Amino acid sequence: MEKFLLGTNWKMHKTETEAIGYTKKLIELVNDYSMYQFFIIPPYTDLKEIKKLTDTSNIFLGAQNMHWQDEGAFTGEISPVMLHELGIDLIELGHSERRQYYNETDFTVNYKVLAGIKHGLKPLICIGENINEKEWGVTNETLAKQLKIALKDVNKKDVVNTLIAYEPVWAIGENGIPAKPSYAGEVHTFIRKLLTRMYDENIAKDIPILYGGSVNIDNAVSLKNQPNVDGLFIGRSAWNIETFRIIAKRITEK
Ligand code: PGA
Repeated sequence: MEKFLLGTNWKMHKTETEAIGYTKKLIELVNDYSMYQFFIIPPYTDLKEIKKLTDTSNIFLGAQNMHWQDEGAFTGEISPVMLHELGIDLIELGHSERRQYYNETDFTVNYKVLAGIKHGLKPLICIGENINEKEWGVTNETLAKQLKIALKDVNKKDVVNTLIAYEPVWAIGENGIPAKPSYAGEVHTFIRKLLTRMYDENIAKDIPILYGGSVNIDNAVSLKNQPNVDGLFIGRSAWNIETFRIIAKRITEK
């Protein structure tokens, strides 16, 4: 396994000016905590300027979504070819907000995963059960369905360039209830076993599984210490660079 991952999806936040200010401070943070692999996933409009700043640093840069076609009559969409030319590393796919508001399905996630791989972008695939699925006791079945469809036709050579983010829908955002660390650990262990069944043990251990959903300065340490948690995927608590710094500091101390 590579370095522990620490990253943030900005969602629809930060103008270009705000993004530049944040990224300059992030570069200092990354220099202080080089034991982690940092990544940021800004809105499209920020990518070009941020790429200039992060080019010589070790920060992975990602986009929040893309179409699966190289080009075409798809008003409002961005293609993998365009993102590849910008020089980004990651493509976030299947975030629960995309699934909830923009008709993203497991099947479109799969098309996008394959397109990302074709164009040299690492897919960061978000999966997670909603509150009903959790309460009905079908979390594992839900995750298995999402992951099997997302990774259909992805071979062993390519799957090690993907990352999985486990983000329980009920844990995300303002109204989210953070998952108990032990619960996250159990689910991550299930996902690792699932990947082992789908590929093999050696491959499965090389696919990072990140936890996301109300990660904050109080729960980051215990989430990091769970089995099979290879990274933290942080929303609100990382949008302020000072809180992000506290998280990096705490997980390093303990
Ligand atoms: P949050 O967002 O940390 O603000 O809950 C997580 C996410 O949506 O990835």
